[in-house]
Amino acid sequence: MSLLEVTDLAVAAGSLQLVDGVTLDVRPGEVVALVGESGSGKSLTALSVMGLLPEALRVTGGSIRFDGAPVHVTGGRDMAALRGNGLAMIFQEPVSSLNPLMPIGDQVAESLIVHGRATPSEAAKEAVRMLGRVGIPDPERRAHQLPAELSGGMCQRVMIAAALISRPRLLIADEPTTALDVTIQAQILDLIRDLAREEGTAVLMITHDMGIVAEMADRVCVMYGGRVVEQGRVEAIFGQPSHSIPRCCCARSRAWTTRPSRSCSPFRAMFPAPGTGPRVAASRPAATGPRHSAMPRPPCPMGRIAWPAFTPCPRA
Ligand SMILES: Nc1ncnc2c1ncn2[C@@H]1O[C@H](COP(=O)(O)OP(=O)(O)OP(=O)(O)O)[C@@H](O)[C@H]1O
Ligand SMILES: [Mg+2]
Repeated sequence: MSLLEVTDLAVAAGSLQLVDGVTLDVRPGEVVALVGESGSGKSLTALSVMGLLPEALRVTGGSIRFDGAPVHVTGGRDMAALRGNGLAMIFQEPVSSLNPLMPIGDQVAESLIVHGRATPSEAAKEAVRMLGRVGIPDPERRAHQLPAELSGGMCQRVMIAAALISRPRLLIADEPTTALDVTIQAQILDLIRDLAREEGTAVLMITHDMGIVAEMADRVCVMYGGRVVEQGRVEAIFGQPSHSIPRCCCARSRAWTTRPSRSCSPFRAMFPAPGTGPRVAASRPAATGPRHSAMPRPPCPMGRIAWPAFTPCPRA
C-alpha cells in the first residue's frame, strides 16, 4: 500500500491555477523523483502535502492521504503532530527555513523533544551526532552557533540533519543538495538512501538533476505547467520517454547532471506559466473511458524533436 497518495491535487492563487490535478504516490522504502522545469509546481505540491502552503495560496481540489488517513491540507494540530513524527521536509530555501535566533543544535534536536522521543540531553547528543553525519565539521562546537554564523551550504546541511533526526516515514526533499559541493552532495544522498533502505523511509525527491534521478530514484514523476505529464519507472522514462518534456530532459540529462537548474534559464524561459500552458489529460481516467486517454503534447521547448500530435497518457 502507498504511504503517500496524492489524488487530483489542485492549488490556486485566486483564480490562477498553479497546480492542476496532480496525482502521485510513494510507497514505503521507495524513492520517487519529482522533476520538471522551474515553476512547474513541484514545491507547491510538496508544501501542500506538508500543510505549509504560503498564505495567498489555497488547495482547491483533490485529496492527500498519508498511511491511508486523510491529511488536513489546511494545517492545524494534526499536521503539526504528523510533521516530525511521520513526515519531514528538507526545504528549498535553507536559510529562511531556520530560526535565526536559535542555536542550530537546538533546532536539530527540537523535533525529538517536541514529540517526546528523547530527553533534552539525549536529543542534544543525537543532534551533534546527526550534524556530524551530514558533514558539519566540529559539530559539538557548531551546535551552539546561530544560522548567521554558518554558510548557506552549512545551513542546508543543518536542515537536512533536522529532517532526518526524527527518522521520518516519508521524507520530502526539495532540491536538497543544490548548494552543496559534490563531495558533501554524495554524502547527503548516501545518507538519504541508507535511510530509505535501512528504515524503509519513503522519499519524494524534488530535483532538476537527472544524475540524482538515475542514481537514486525508483520511479519518476514529471511535472509541466502545474500538471503531471508522465510518470513511471526510471528505466522506462530514461529509456523511452513518451512525452516531449521528459524527452527534452533526457536529451539534456548530461548537462543537468552537472549543473543546477538556474544554468538552464534559456530553456526554462520557454515554459508556460501555470494556468497558461496547454491542457493535458485529466489525471484520473473517466469512469467509463479507456485505460489510456489521449493528451495533446505541449510543444518541445528545444524545437527539435518530432512526434505525433497525441500520446497515451501514462497516468490514465
Ligand atoms: N506564494 C505564491 N504566490 C503566487 N504564486 C506562487 C507562489 N509561490 C509559487 N507561485 C507560483 O506557482 C508556480 C509553481 O511554483 P513552484 O514553486 O511549485 O515551482 P517549482 O516547480 O518548485 O519551481 P523551481 O524548480 O524553480 O523550484 C510558479 O509559477 C510560481 O511562480
Ligand atoms: Mg521549487
